[in-house]
Amino acid sequence: MKFTVSPRLLDHFGVAMYNTVTKAIAELCANAYDADAKIVKINYTDSQIVISDDGLGMTTSDMKEKYLHLGRDRRGDESENGELTQSGRAVIGNKGIGKLAGFGIVQTMTIETWKSGEKTRLTLDRDALDTVEELESFDLQPTVTKVRSKTSSGTTITLSDFLEEVKRPEDEVLRAYLARHLPARHDWQIFVNGVKCSPGSIPGKKLGSMTSSKDTAGCVGTTSLRTIGAVWNPALASEFEIVLFRTPAYSA
Ligand SMILES: Nc1ncnc2c1ncn2[C@@H]1O[C@H](COP(=O)(O)OP(=O)(O)O)[C@@H](O)[C@H]1O
Ligand SMILES: [Mg+2]
Repeated sequence: MKFTVSPRLLDHFGVAMYNTVTKAIAELCANAYDADAKIVKINYTDSQIVISDDGLGMTTSDMKEKYLHLGRDRRGDESENGELTQSGRAVIGNKGIGKLAGFGIVQTMTIETWKSGEKTRLTLDRDALDTVEELESFDLQPTVTKVRSKTSSGTTITLSDFLEEVKRPEDEVLRAYLARHLPARHDWQIFVNGVKCSPGSIPGKKLGSMTSSKDTAGCVGTTSLRTIGAVWNPALASEFEIVLFRTPAYSA
């Protein structure tokens, strides 16, 4: 005897949580962050959203074992570092469902990822997934090609065919959301249509900023930083820049 999983369960598991453009893109950027990407470029148009990162990428077998394994906890996987990424970032993901965030806003998602001289491409269709009784019986056919460079790696996610009810925020709103909801680090940048997401993207009047060392940062309340969406782990950083803004009530 064994459980069978109906595709409907995806919605109950949380795909429905990512029902805005901002939330869905932020979750896919979190995956780029966890893959140690230095740069994420988002091309955001009326017809599609393309999110490209220069992170670790995946081989075809990573795709099968890590990407397509729903609900996998990467922190418990021996091949990963646990709480930290290879470059020492505090891992954001843990539920093993974030990759499906795009289905909160679009019908079609294409993943193209390359690592170790191998490029894997897979297109997923939300409706097609719903036509099977059991998710596991859905046959996925990735295309695998060779790439010249064995050292280059990265991932590009293309989201297309927006669901009808989905609103498209202005570029600036998206930048502000990403600046607030993803960690700020010197080795990590997100661009939306060529313009960097930075604290300056957050609407409001800048009141001032200060740089704090690890020793003094301890006196700043954890809660207040959490509320602006920063990942707060004093053990991992030696220096912080704290920027204070007076902002109008924020909604995404
Ligand atoms: N942009 C990406 N680059 C490299 N690997 C990725 C990327 N997105 C997802 N993955 C892989 O797929 C796995 C599943 O992603 P996800 O569903 O978001 O779950 P989680 O982040 O909780 O592990 C990740 O743990 C990672 O191994
Ligand atoms: Mg994730």
